[in-house]
Amino acid sequence: MKPLSQETVNVTSPANIAFIKYWGQRDSSEVLPENDSFSMNLSGCTTSIQLTLTENIETQEVKIRDYATGAINQASPEELAPIVHVFELLRKKYSLHNAGFSINSANSFPKKAGIASSASFFSGLVTAFLAAYNVSETERERTILARKSGSGSAARSIPDGFVWWYKGNEDADSYAESIAGPDYWDLVDIVVLVSKEEKQTGSQKGHSGAHSSLLFPARQFFLNHAINDIKEAFRNRDIEHFGTIIEADAVSMHSVMMTQDPQLFFWNGTTLDLLRTTLELRSQGIPVYATIDAGANVHLISTRSFSEKIINIISTRFPGIDTIYNEPSVGTRIIGNRNY
Ligand code: PMV
Repeated sequence: MKPLSQETVNVTSPANIAFIKYWGQRDSSEVLPENDSFSMNLSGCTTSIQLTLTENIETQEVKIRDYATGAINQASPEELAPIVHVFELLRKKYSLHNAGFSINSANSFPKKAGIASSASFFSGLVTAFLAAYNVSETERERTILARKSGSGSAARSIPDGFVWWYKGNEDADSYAESIAGPDYWDLVDIVVLVSKEEKQTGSQKGHSGAHSSLLFPARQFFLNHAINDIKEAFRNRDIEHFGTIIEADAVSMHSVMMTQDPQLFFWNGTTLDLLRTTLELRSQGIPVYATIDAGANVHLISTRSFSEKIINIISTRFPGIDTIYNEPSVGTRIIGNRNY
C-alpha cells in the first residue's frame, strides 16, 4: 500500500478537438471504441485541477468555478458519480488506501458545450489522483485509465500535440499516443461560441445509441478510407486534403447522431450559418474547414497565417459571438515539483 500524502496536487490539462471522431463503443464497460480517432490538444481550452486527499473518507468535495460568472459551485450528484468511479478504479488497480478528496476545478472555456470539457477534466483527474498517491505510471497506461473515466476521449488529452487513439483489440491495447508534437504543424482551431449552454445528453448515453442509426455502417465505411487518407494528408501537411476529410468526418458523425434512437440534434441555426460561411470563405481562397463536437459550437480549422483574417470576418458577420483561439498544445501536466 502506498502512503497517503495530503499535499495538494495541481494539474492542468487541455481539451482536444477530434479530426477523426470517436462515436460508438464496441464494449461500453471497458470503453472500447468502434474506431481509431485522432485529435489535437488545444492551447486556449484548458482545465486546472487542484486535488487534496484527506484522512476522512467521507469527504468528497468538488468545487467547480463557473466560466462565465466566476462563481464557485459544488458538483451535482451526477457530476460527482464519475469522479468517484475514477477514484475507485485507481484505488482497486493500485491497492491504494481509501481516502476522502477535495477538488477545485476551473475551465478556461464553457463546460458541456461541445468543447471536450470532460476530456480535459478526466485526463487531469486521473493524473492528479495518481500523483497524489505518488503512483508513477507510464503515459500509455494513464491514457488507458483516462479512457475508462467518464470520457473516453480524455485518453487523447494526456499525450502532447497531435494524438492518435488506437481502438485496439482489448483493454491493454486501446491507448493514445502522440504522433507529432505541437510544433509539427501550425494548425489553429478557432472555436466559435455559438452556444454556451450545457447540453442535455451526455456523450456516454449518446455513444450507446450510435448503433441504432441506419447510417452507422455508412460511417464505418467512410472511416475505413478516411483513417488512411488523413494520415497521408497529415504527413504532407496538406490543409486542403486534411480539411476535406475532417469536415466530412464531422458531418458523418452528426448524421449518425441525428438518425440514432433517440435522435440527437446538437446544431442550431447559427451552426449551419457558420458551415455555409466556411464554404464561402473557401471559395474566396481561405483554407478554413469546420468540425463540430457534441454541441452547437463550430471549430474552424485553418493555419496560423489565416487566423486573424478568419477571426475578423467571423466577428463582423456574427457580432456578439465570442471566439476562442487555439494552437496545438502539450498534453496533461502536473504543475510544481512532481513529475512522471
Ligand atoms: O469522450 P466522450 O465519451 O465524452 O465522447 C466524446 C466524443 C466526441 O467528442 C463527440 C468526439 C470525439 O472524438 O472527441
